[in-house]
Amino acid sequence: MSLLPAKNDIAIRVTLSPSQGDIDQCVSLWLSAVENRDNRAPASGTSARVAAKFAIGDQRLVVVERFNIASTRKQIRGFALTTFRADGVAYLELLATHSRHQGIGLGRQLTEDALWAAAERGLTRFELDVRTGNVAAIRLYESVGMKITGLATPHPLGGEPMVTMTRILNASS
Ligand SMILES: CC(C)(COP(=O)(O)OP(=O)(O)OC[C@H]1O[C@@H](n2cnc3c(N)ncnc32)[C@H](O)[C@@H]1OP(=O)(O)O)[C@@H](O)C(=O)NCCC(=O)NCCS
Repeated sequence: MSLLPAKNDIAIRVTLSPSQGDIDQCVSLWLSAVENRDNRAPASGTSARVAAKFAIGDQRLVVVERFNIASTRKQIRGFALTTFRADGVAYLELLATHSRHQGIGLGRQLTEDALWAAAERGLTRFELDVRTGNVAAIRLYESVGMKITGLATPHPLGGEPMVTMTRILNASS
């Protein structure tokens, strides 16, 4: 992988077949990150919709884990889930970092790692969908060379406008 830096009690793990415990923690992190982002509880049905994204064929999950001394357990503090689609597109299904660990570069490193992994597989196109109002995420994606492609369409649950962002990959990505 592209070697995200591990420091202190933070470690990076890549898995192609996440455990149910991984999935539960990622769903929970997604819900709290979205609630923090939107200042309101996520739409009903979000939990099931997010969990279902973990069962879409050929996937790569990268998690950033923090060892919690008090509970002696590892807690997922950031993750990126990419699906390698049959049409040759690498699709970033989910990316989130915990609100207490945002703004320190984890989101960018997870995104750069996902781009690297897609190029490593020989895929030439990387895509994701993002809400037009998600300024932090759009700035992050633009900073790694992604561009908005196509017109806005409503989010399947909440109806907010969504756009697709794309980056064409090459072997040196
Ligand atoms: C989007 C998200 C993953 C960014 O994670 P992060 O770990 O905070 O990101 P980073 O610290 O790596 O920041 C990378 C870049 O993102 C942009 N960014 C991050 N937070 C931002 C904010 N609050 N406002 C504007 N830009 C922001 C900046 O361009 C930043 O680069 P800079 O620090 O050089 O200015 C995180 O905010 C999140 O989990 N949001 C909720 C879930 C979500 O919306 N996911 C994306 C769905 S498409």
